Order: sequence, then C-alpha cells, then structure tokens
Amino acid sequence: MSQYNPPNLPSEKGGDLGSAAEAASTASVNNPPNLPFQKGGNHGSAAKAASPVLGSVEPIPACPPVISARGLSTRFGKVWVHRNLNLEIQAGELVALVGGSGSGKTTLLRQIIGLLTPTEGEIRVFGEPLFGGGVLRERLLRQRFGVLFQQGALFSAFSVFDNVAFPLRELKRLDEATIRDLVMLKLSMVELLPRHGELMPAELSGGMVKRVALARALALEPELLLLDEPTAGLDPDRSDSFVRLIRSLSAELGLTVVLVTHDLDTLAALSTRIAVLAEQRILAYGSMQDIMKIDHPFIQNFFHSERSMRALQNVGI
Ligand SMILES: Nc1ncnc2c1ncn2[C@@H]1O[C@H](COP(=O)(O)OP(=O)(O)OP(=O)(O)O)[C@@H](O)[C@H]1O
Ligand SMILES: [Mg+2]
Repeated sequence: MSQYNPPNLPSEKGGDLGSAAEAASTASVNNPPNLPFQKGGNHGSAAKAASPVLGSVEPIPACPPVISARGLSTRFGKVWVHRNLNLEIQAGELVALVGGSGSGKTTLLRQIIGLLTPTEGEIRVFGEPLFGGGVLRERLLRQRFGVLFQQGALFSAFSVFDNVAFPLRELKRLDEATIRDLVMLKLSMVELLPRHGELMPAELSGGMVKRVALARALALEPELLLLDEPTAGLDPDRSDSFVRLIRSLSAELGLTVVLVTHDLDTLAALSTRIAVLAEQRILAYGSMQDIMKIDHPFIQNFFHSERSMRALQNVGI
C-alpha cells in the first residue's frame, strides 16, 4: 500500500480513525524511524535525540524529518495548484518528485526553500519553519541547503568563478583567498578545471551549465540538495555522467536529495523513494516497485509506456 498518509503528530487531536490507522500501517514502510546512526549528515537534533535527560519526564524528541510539508495548499489567482499536500522526507533519502507538467513540482521546491509562501499549511526544514525566526536564524537555515534550478539559472553577467563564489560571498564572511580555494574545490568536485572558472555562462555547453549550477549548489556544503530537472536537455551520455556525479557526491557527502525529474533513467538510477504529485497532493510515496503497482492514469502512463518500460529494463527493473 503506497498511498501516502503522513503519520499523525502526537499533538494532533481527533481525526478520523481510519486514516490514522492507515497512516500507522504505512508509516513503517514510508517513514522509517530516523535513527541518529542513519546516514545523512550531522544534524544537531540527532545528537539531541540520542541524549535523553535523566530524571526528565519530557518525551525524547525524535529526529525531525529534513523536510516536512503539512496541510499545504497553494493558490495562484483562482487556480489551486496544491490542496492539503503532505510530505515528509527523512535524512539520507534520495527522493524523486514526479508529476505531470504544471502539477506544481517547481512550486513545491520554491516553497521548500522559502522563495514562495504557501497559501495554507506549513513547511519545516530540519524541523524549523522557514520564516519567523529572525534574519540570523533564516540565514543559518539557508546555508544548510543547496538548489539547482530548472534551467541552471546561472547569473549571465558573472563568470563561472563568480557564480560559484556567489553564495559564499552572500552568506559567509570569508576572505577572497579562502573563497578562491573553496570555488576551486567545488569546481573539481563537479569535474571542471580551474580554467573553466574564467568562462562566462554563454560560453558553456548544457552539461557544463548543469555542473556549474551543481558546484554553486554545493558551495555552502549543504546537507540537503534540491535538484529541479537536473538532466533535462542533456544528451544520454552527459545525462548518465551527471547522474553518476550526483550519486557519488550524495553518497560521499551524506546528502538528502530531492530531485524533480521526468527522466526515468535518472529516476531509476538515483532515487530511494518516489513521491508522485498528482491531483494537487502527494498521491503516493514509496519505492519504485510499490509505486508502479498503483492503478492511476498518471502512474500507469509514466511507468508503463513502451518508452518507460525500455528505460526501466535498461536499469534492470
Ligand atoms: N508565480 C506564479 N504565478 C502564477 N502562476 C504560477 C506561478 N508559478 C507557477 N504558477 C502556475 O502553477 C502551476 C504549477 O507550476 P510549476 O512550475 O510548479 O509546475 P511543474 O510541475 O514544475 O511543471 P513542469 O514539469 O512543466 O516544470 C502552473 O500552472 C503554473 O503556471
Ligand atoms: Mg518545473
């Protein structure tokens, strides 16, 4: 059963027993307990969860999900893009967010990073709301995630070097020599050479734009990486090598990754779980095998078309 019902919070009152029971039965599959030893970076709260206070009657807080969207609704004019959307992503997951064009995937990513405020509901990142905690706290929170936007979104007037340096200059107080070392390190992480730093975005191939955008997303050493269509527009070879790069970086750095993609090869090669955005909510959340069994027009079309079956065979599914 992969229909997604987030677990009810202990503080939540009442509610319908049926859905609570269903949530409980799916929780072990969809939301495994987030143990401190789980791979996925050094979240301060994990340490807190592991050290109960002796003599205290307070319950030990569980490690919060890296992303938690609850009761999220989004309206543009008269159109509701999301209605009562719920999603929880735990540390160390590589989640592919799939859905039809215009279903609201990019909008959801923009809300997760605080570029857009939902009409209703709340998003927490690393257990904290994005807004309302003061400028310093927001600044610290923003350093914990990196984003690769749908079109790469490099600053066209800045060189590659200055694009990658941008978040370092914006959010950290570092001297230029340190910035230079860090930019070179990030370029090498995405397999670019120091001399590529001098190029302007207009001089880059599509694959290089993606690599530079990834280097910029990694600049602040994030724990959470959000990638919007990272392989769109790349030829199959470049797409494969970009997927390998993301996989090895996320494993090495212990990242939690949210990846929007239409590309089944990318999805199959990278994701540990799939979240299907349809009917204005997360319709299903689970493993590829679980999701593929669901009888829904979008899912059937996405995973069972002739093209899709070929792509899945290629990766042995
Ligand atoms: N700032 C905005 N103002 C008004 N409408 C918007 C805005 N941003 C997005 N929309 C609308 O919200 C809907 C969802 O857009 P979104 O870009 O999130 O879709 P998507 O799932 O990412 O699509 P695609 O797969 O084509 O990238 C679309 O109908 C879009 O026109
Ligand atoms: Mg989009």
